[in-house]
Amino acid sequence: MLRAKIIGTGSCLPPKIVTNDDLSKLVDTNDEWIRERTGIQERRVSDAATATSDLGVVAAEKALAKAKVSPEEIELILVCTCSPDMLFPSTACIIQDKLNAKNAAAFDLSAACSGFNFGLTTAASFIESGKYKKILLVGADTLTKYLDWTDRGTCILFGDGAGAVVLETTDKNEGVLASLIRAEGNLGNTLTMPGGGSRDPEEKNGRFIKMNGKEVFKFAVRALETSIKDIIKLAGKEIGDIDLFIPHQANIRIIDHVSKKLGISKEKVFVNLQKYGNTSAASVPIALDEAYREGKIKSGDLLVLSGFGAGLTYGANIIRW
Ligand code: UT7
Repeated sequence: MLRAKIIGTGSCLPPKIVTNDDLSKLVDTNDEWIRERTGIQERRVSDAATATSDLGVVAAEKALAKAKVSPEEIELILVCTCSPDMLFPSTACIIQDKLNAKNAAAFDLSAACSGFNFGLTTAASFIESGKYKKILLVGADTLTKYLDWTDRGTCILFGDGAGAVVLETTDKNEGVLASLIRAEGNLGNTLTMPGGGSRDPEEKNGRFIKMNGKEVFKFAVRALETSIKDIIKLAGKEIGDIDLFIPHQANIRIIDHVSKKLGISKEKVFVNLQKYGNTSAASVPIALDEAYREGKIKSGDLLVLSGFGAGLTYGANIIRW
């Protein structure tokens, strides 16, 4: 049986740091509230000249260099984003052009903060079917461009960034062992960006993220718990078999609540949301890249990646590194 193995990771964060104190000058909030209620201390914000593809291409170049794979060898570029450079061409095609990856097919995948887990599931399926042998998968978002900086319920949460992985075919029992992706479109109105689409091309409803924080929080706790339990069961493993959990970095209370409920110790859960906030589709691949570079992932380790977000959607992948 063919499987998809990650052979290189990379990430890119814009240099500008915005602290909680900075935000307290814009809205009625404070560092203590944001730290206690979310765990976030600061986030990165891209400048006006930087679009999602600019971050994505840097992450991609790093992942390709790490994998020792040239852009020409890539057969598919899959970019998970809900903040594309423009409606079309896809951000994947823009990145293909910047990389000069001329032999690759390229398309975007829209599953918001679940994007990377949806993308990994999709990429793994292409590899398992034998259709492609080398895929570049990017998770990139610049949601700070879509924040209402007068809404303290959303502007404190999000940051910009990109993460990328190169996947290659293996016939060994390693790489992506199992995947799951799910959608609950009936809850879609709890987290939306209504302006700019074909329903509202003139952005009469605004061009900002709107969120019912409490409802999304409840969903997130349920989605994270269910995705971890179900992916482990699907792979025939136990919680105790997992070496590292890499959940979507949205809110430390979501992660702590689920870890405690499932009996997962803190050392086994990778967290970097204090530095970057919620970077949407980029959060899991940035965390994966950092965990790897910090020596927290060794050959043979079992990892669970999981994500949840707008749609509403959630998904998970289990990987033998
Ligand atoms: O990828 C998925 C993306 N979304 C998420 O993961 C978001 C999930 N939701 C959350 O993380 C949380 O719901 C929030 C962090 C957004 C809000 O935290 P909360 O603990 O659910 O707060 P709340 O909405 O229940 O508000 C509690 C209080 C309210 O004041 P009153 O009514 O009790 O007087 C809010 O007005 O906190 C107030 N509040 C704030 N105070 C200071 C809300 N936001 C802020 C703020 N600073 N930024």
